[in-house]
Amino acid sequence: DWVMGDYIAEAVAKIREQVGSDEVILGLSGGVDSSVAAALIHRAIGDQLTCVFVDNGLLRLNEADMVMDMFARNMGVKVIHVDASEQFLGKLAGVSDPEAKRKIIGREFVEVFQTESAKLANAKWLAQGTIYPDVIESAGAKSKKATTIKSHHNVGGLPDTLHLKLLEPLRELFKDEVRALGVALGLPPSMVYRHPFPGPGLGVRILGEVKKDYADLLRRADAIFIEELRATVDENSGKNWYDLTSQAFAVFLPVKSVGVMGDGRTYDYVVALRAVQTQDFMTAHWAHLPYELLGKVSNRIINEVRGINRVVYDVSGKPPATIEWE
Ligand code: XMP
Repeated sequence: DWVMGDYIAEAVAKIREQVGSDEVILGLSGGVDSSVAAALIHRAIGDQLTCVFVDNGLLRLNEADMVMDMFARNMGVKVIHVDASEQFLGKLAGVSDPEAKRKIIGREFVEVFQTESAKLANAKWLAQGTIYPDVIESAGAKSKKATTIKSHHNVGGLPDTLHLKLLEPLRELFKDEVRALGVALGLPPSMVYRHPFPGPGLGVRILGEVKKDYADLLRRADAIFIEELRATVDENSGKNWYDLTSQAFAVFLPVKSVGVMGDGRTYDYVVALRAVQTQDFMTAHWAHLPYELLGKVSNRIINEVRGINRVVYDVSGKPPATIEWE
């Protein structure tokens, strides 16, 4: 609509004025905020923007293809796709503590990003999808004592050693405004209304040590769950269960249990399904998904993902449980 059109025109003018003819780099994660920031900055300065998309080996199924299709192929954004999965998985080998895993993933990301940005010698600006609630939250975090339950690593928080000026065009916007802006800029609603995905990705959804085989199984199980949530419409609201939940995903449990398949006995891994409803992610209720939906997801995962023979549903609220399992 015209209000959003005016907003875009103003934001574009401001970005052009700020950066002039300088080059800008942006870490594109595939999340809503960095995607909308990329689309907006690209609208303003086109090829002066280069995005860096890092595949850490812990992304959802086909995520890298989806991001490259959307930004590089459809929108003509310059995106450097770095496949660093071996580097990340190598560094994670033998590590099972959740916070240690988060630190490694955060550290490797910074390293990869620094290496890539060093190749863009002319870049003067680092763009980030910081939104207003992030600004408030980090202001609060400074004044509070360090009572971190989990350290959060996002694309943000890159070190000052990059010597780049910060470009944060979403700093004044709330999440719903960022989404509306994304749609107005032409991003598909399915991307703009996605559930949040943690920076450490599947690294905190594979309990204990992360292995490539586990990640591959989990990616497939998770994709089945998400596909069925999107496909199942609640008759009362007319909405599908993906939109009726705030976050939903599968978790890989590296324990084996016995099952039967045909005439044979199986001894395979377990997947837990997690779906929550929440306003602010500080507290959350487990989602009362229909039994038919849960049954279908369970059957499909067990039949289609060899190596998983049992599916369970997490019925824990936050608190006392957290949304993620690690
Ligand atoms: P918890 O598990 O703490 O999660 O109830 C609350 C929200 O935060 C997300 N989360 C993370 N996001 N890096 C992130 O970028 C992290 O390390 C991280 N840990 C949790 C989680 O997905 C949920 O939306």
